[in-house]
Amino acid sequence: MQAAGKSVKSMFVPAARSINEYDLKAFSMFLNRNESLFCLTGAGISTESGIPDYRSKGVGLYDRDNHKPITHQEFTRSAHKRQRYWARNYVGYKYFAIREPNENHFAIDKLIKRGKIRNLVTQNVDGLHLKAGSHDLVELHGNNHRVVCLDCRRIIARQKLQGLLDVANVNWETPITEETKMAPDADSILTPEEIEGFQVCDCPYCGGILKPDVTFFGDNVNYNLVQSCYESVRNNDACLVVGSSLFVWSGFRFIREAISNGKDVFVINIGETRADAFAKKNNLSSTRYSKCEVQASLLLNNFVNSDIPDHL
Ligand SMILES: NC(=O)c1ccc[n+]([C@@H]2O[C@H](COP(=O)([O-])OP(=O)(O)OC[C@H]3O[C@@H](n4cnc5c(N)ncnc54)[C@H](O)[C@@H]3O)[C@@H](O)[C@H]2O)c1
Ligand SMILES: [Zn+2]
Repeated sequence: MQAAGKSVKSMFVPAARSINEYDLKAFSMFLNRNESLFCLTGAGISTESGIPDYRSKGVGLYDRDNHKPITHQEFTRSAHKRQRYWARNYVGYKYFAIREPNENHFAIDKLIKRGKIRNLVTQNVDGLHLKAGSHDLVELHGNNHRVVCLDCRRIIARQKLQGLLDVANVNWETPITEETKMAPDADSILTPEEIEGFQVCDCPYCGGILKPDVTFFGDNVNYNLVQSCYESVRNNDACLVVGSSLFVWSGFRFIREAISNGKDVFVINIGETRADAFAKKNNLSSTRYSKCEVQASLLLNNFVNSDIPDHL
């Protein structure tokens, strides 16, 4: 079921102002004066595919549900928390699995193929850049289409686990969910009563605890991976951020690194970002730090799907 008058594609896109000449000019100048880009994407790039983000007013998870995403420590220490996590994920995954890349993912892929974006780093766990054809990327927080066993470390396809959960839960009354109850990260909003009786599955090979192959809050991203991303920031002329509030340190640190290294930063993001105040504090001019608060596809498509100037 869909919210009245809203398609799945627009249901989770926050309200934004319309695009204007100034936005187009600022972005075009940014692309023209920088040869190579480090691109960081976040949840906002996927709202146009029907996947909600966390922080958007009215449509983000934090505005619709009191429940905060599980931490790594909660997941590993509490069987009860794992039951709640997997029940919500089991229901949410049905929608999450069928989400497709949108114009933003394709536009970014075109900029990669043109050699403009040299390094793509995503904070998203939805696998949509991969589905759009961008295989050369860093999935900083993993991918929700894979599951890892915390004991034997085997990787299992999330779709396969869905089949095992179907069998284990034939007697569980699956809550009737609406797409409006969908949460980020293949999560969905369920009441404690709805979760009761849900059966969790253990690793089919060793009986160990299964966890989605993603970095939860409270866990660290691999040190070497982070260092290689810092290096990519330094090796490119500038940074393009698409759809991230940058409130999570994991992504913000790269933008801080870029600013500290004198790189241009251009942010396409409807809402406020953690870098806005940082840029202000560092007295950056509007060329060094530009922000465009419009729906990402409107800006990207102007440069990628229509006439791209030859030199881009
Ligand atoms: N799709 C996913 O895989 C997904 C979804 C939600 C959260 N997460 C995880 O949660 C963390 C949250 O941090 P974050 O910064 O990525 O998300 P966030 O929710 O903090 O910020 C998203 C930002 O995107 C903006 N936005 C939303 N739709 C937009 C659009 N169509 N065009 C332009 N801007 C748009 C919003 O204004 C918001 O500021 C990430 O590290 C990620 O791992 C992943
Ligand atoms: Zn195992």
